[in-house]
Amino acid sequence: MSILDLFRLDGRHAVVTGAAQGIGFEIARGLAEAGARVTIADLNPDVGHDAARSIGAAFEPLNVTDPAAATALAAKLGGADILVNNAGIVRNTPAEDTPDDDWTAVMRVNLDGVFWCCRAFGQHMLAQGRGSIVSTASMSGLISNHPQPQAAYNASKAGVIHLTRSLAGEWASRGVRVNCVAPGYTATPLTKRGLETPEWRETWLKETPMGRLAEPAEIAPAVLYLASDAASFVTGHALVVDGGYTCW
Ligand code: NAI
Repeated sequence: MSILDLFRLDGRHAVVTGAAQGIGFEIARGLAEAGARVTIADLNPDVGHDAARSIGAAFEPLNVTDPAAATALAAKLGGADILVNNAGIVRNTPAEDTPDDDWTAVMRVNLDGVFWCCRAFGQHMLAQGRGSIVSTASMSGLISNHPQPQAAYNASKAGVIHLTRSLAGEWASRGVRVNCVAPGYTATPLTKRGLETPEWRETWLKETPMGRLAEPAEIAPAVLYLASDAASFVTGHALVVDGGYTCW
């Protein structure tokens, strides 16, 4: 077998949350190209249906903050071989002025949502004795960004990284690997406001050794690696893809 075959996903079903656009869409596209049957599960059916059609994927509406919906989707699909928890949001409010709803909204999508989906699909994976979960965490789970304030986001992503380790330890002996990627600044609708704010943009570029943002397609190969048999001995890992940001 060629080493390249380890990256193939033929015959596997991958569910990618938050994949109607941005990083998630490129992940879905990459996994489909590697041979997987892909289901995009997203809050936004307007964009999601077209996105799915464009890459030969299926679309399922899903709000990851709803644990019952995650359980129902996993049951409807009969589980999955690969789950990518990618849905995420950010709120840029100074910590001391953070409205309750902002804190809760970020935690519900970025951390609770990851757990609900891991639990729902993890049950099926454990029952079949194999599976691979990859979550989109962030370098914000390792460092605290500036100049923009985003305490809830940073805390939620640190939570994803540690949840990854916790689930990896629990499920390793039962054939289920759990990893995450930790991207740096990536050009998507999520970072649009920041790029339009000169002070933020300047700092982001200055503090990234490579001096630029990532394209969403530059995150997808890291997810493919972790999702595939190429990473058969890798679990509990946070793979940083940040143009060197966390070096400084
Ligand atoms: P985006 O805003 O372009 O896309 C997010 C997607 O998630 C959208 O399709 C949206 O409809 C979906 N979504 C939001 N809430 C949802 C919910 N409750 N249930 C289901 N789907 C939901 O964002 P982007 O930039 O593509 O981010 C994707 C992931 O990457 C997020 O977890 C984000 O935190 C993470 N990330 C992004 C970075 C960046 O610089 N853009 C850097 C590091 C991590």
